[in-house]
Amino acid sequence: MKNNGLEDVIAAETRLSDVDGEAGRLVIRGVSLDLLVSHATFEDVAVLLLDGMLEQPLSATDLKTRLGEARAEVFSHVVSADEALLNLPPVDAMRALIARLPDGEDLETALRLLAAPAVFLPAVLRLQKGETPVAPKPSLSQSADILAMLSGSLPTREQVAALDAYLVTISDHGLNASTFASRVVASTKAGLTSSVLAAISALKGPLHGGAPGPVLDMLDAVGTQENAKAWLADALDRGERLMGFGHRIYRVRDPRADALKHALEPLVATGQVDLDRIRLAEAVEQAALAILRERKPDRPLDVNVEFYTALLLDALKFPREAFTGVFAIGRTVGWIAHAREQALEGRLIRPRSVYVGPLPQAA
Ligand code: ACO
Repeated sequence: MKNNGLEDVIAAETRLSDVDGEAGRLVIRGVSLDLLVSHATFEDVAVLLLDGMLEQPLSATDLKTRLGEARAEVFSHVVSADEALLNLPPVDAMRALIARLPDGEDLETALRLLAAPAVFLPAVLRLQKGETPVAPKPSLSQSADILAMLSGSLPTREQVAALDAYLVTISDHGLNASTFASRVVASTKAGLTSSVLAAISALKGPLHGGAPGPVLDMLDAVGTQENAKAWLADALDRGERLMGFGHRIYRVRDPRADALKHALEPLVATGQVDLDRIRLAEAVEQAALAILRERKPDRPLDVNVEFYTALLLDALKFPREAFTGVFAIGRTVGWIAHAREQALEGRLIRPRSVYVGPLPQAA
């Protein structure tokens, strides 16, 4: 089967986002990512994506208030995080807590689902370190509150702006694997919580949202700028893939990588990052692009969103094992918007397979 990754299959019509892999362009509801990321907060992009998808319209101010209330509401579930749950990787523990929330298709369910990963991930991370979870402050923006719940103190303006830029950048991205999973579940009318749980399960794989942690592992293993070329050559000789490079759709640079690189700049300018790490990453990026061009001349492979995600989330002091969970915090709004679009306009998704197994023996 040639396209067993379904690459040429159109499986949905959407008004939510468009990924142009040849031009390296991402459009979210008619707005190009470069424009959106320069002025929008998480709340703004949530309003943009959910417009017309729920039974009542919401302004960014309404959403900020109601999302703050929803964070306070879901925080009550944190007490149910027992030892078995806390022994799981953070994204799995977060998913297990979300699985306790009721299913539904309404605004309350959507708000609870937007709030839940933002509250559960910082709480799980603190509990896993033996610290007390920090309760949400409903008056803060979603990004400021996430950072406050993570560290226990109020974040700087540059940190909040960087997290907003990240959450906006990754809010939606066409029919990627997790979004498709969300739409498949939505097509059965199971409810938004079920769609989001399926999507998180698809996201956590290393070929999708699980890559940024390994990007930092790679930078650690490379160690110094001088070692970059030799280390990357050895990795390719061992048949490994370079984490943070390559993409199913983009044949040029992933526009989200540049959005995040740009979002890092105020943190760099104000000394809120480890500069050695940034310089090493730049050297690894240059060396990787050169060696991939040399080794895979027929396959354009460039940097993807995960490379700069790793640097940005590291600068915001998220531990690397939590990166996939932070991705889920931002992408949940895209999953919900797609699930609602599917439920409102689509039919049951039920493709066919070709049977290639043995036939019954003739009697
Ligand atoms: N490093 C080295 N070689 C690569 C890489 C890479 N990162 N990516 C693709 N290739 C090579 C493959 O080995 C293959 O070569 P071959 O034909 O000689 O066997 C060729 O390029 C095509 O590979 P495919 O698997 O067809 O590419 P596909 O489009 O399926 O893969 C993927 C896309 C999974 C993202 C891949 O590039 C990869 O594994 N990258 C590393 C992991 C990563 O960064 N994931 C995050 C993606 S972004 C996101 O999901 C949010």
